[in-house]
Amino acid sequence: MQIIAMGSCLPEGILDNEQLSRMVETNDEWIVTRTGIRQRHIAHGETTLSLAAAAARQAMERAGVAPDRIGLVVVCTFTPDQATPSTACLVQQELGLGQDVLAFDLNAACSGFIYGLATAEGLLSRMEGRYGLVIGSEVISRTVDYTDRGTCILFGDGAGAAVVSAEGPAAVADFGCNGDLAVLSAGVRREDGSAAPLAMNGKEVFRFAVSTVPASIRKLLDKAGLSLDEVDHIVCHQANHRIVESIARHLQTDLGRFYENIEFYGNTSAASIPIALCEMQEKGLLHRGDTVLLAGFGSGLTWGSLLLTW
Ligand code: UT7
Repeated sequence: MQIIAMGSCLPEGILDNEQLSRMVETNDEWIVTRTGIRQRHIAHGETTLSLAAAAARQAMERAGVAPDRIGLVVVCTFTPDQATPSTACLVQQELGLGQDVLAFDLNAACSGFIYGLATAEGLLSRMEGRYGLVIGSEVISRTVDYTDRGTCILFGDGAGAAVVSAEGPAAVADFGCNGDLAVLSAGVRREDGSAAPLAMNGKEVFRFAVSTVPASIRKLLDKAGLSLDEVDHIVCHQANHRIVESIARHLQTDLGRFYENIEFYGNTSAASIPIALCEMQEKGLLHRGDTVLLAGFGSGLTWGSLLLTW
């Protein structure tokens, strides 16, 4: 599988730590030292669809891929604008893609983009000559409780998109899931039919991430027959700078090898890895033939890591 080009789209509105500290009892110093986050983008009018379509349009332009060459649209999200039609179907309409497109949403929360890439690789191998769009798009602010200081400081909105083809070396992947409603959930239906806001046991998620992700990366490297030193870029889901620090420590590798941008966007769930890859592409950090390791974890609980050749 090959990623041909990336695109991204962030809402214009920005909510920084100073502004948050006027909404809820918190402060910039606590947020920065505990998470690494300074600001996040928040949608005011933008939707999961509009962000997804804009990111995908940019990726297609950069890839030089025309709408009729797209055979697959996977939108990874846990915050779709509606239950049905899927965001992916509306992306087909918005971008003027052909009707011979397989389009669906995929919910693996913050592991979504990794699940999405692996799913796309499998499906594209049966669609000769066609390209896939794998998009992570979230408007998490619509499910966040802005009176809960333990969660509202973390999350932001945004989208990132990849144009992918089945060509090139196969990706190597490691995945898992461990069903659990208590640790991290959003939109759970109450008896009156309303949807509960995002609820999280932060400490449990932290513990889960720092044990599961290094183990998954080790399994992945074993499968690939590579050492971590042979990997050119490591991009983890941007959930908390301290989680990335701990993963680096567990893997006994240099923190500087991990690309991080959580400072500017907070945790954008399924969009965090593609937004990071898009930035890396724009900065000229990614070169054809580079080995890129991606790792995600989140609600489900889900996790996944994937090794691909750029
Ligand atoms: O994509 C996956 C999604 N989720 C995550 O990755 C979340 C993973 N977990 C985390 O990132 C961290 O657990 C948090 C950032 C959510 C919380 O950090 P923590 O170091 O685990 O803090 P804590 O919950 O243990 O709270 C420590 C103290 C508490 O006060 P006391 O009881 O010690 O007096 C909290 O009430 O900090 C307090 N606190 C805050 N203070 C200022 C909690 N949130 C805040 C806040 N501002 N926003």
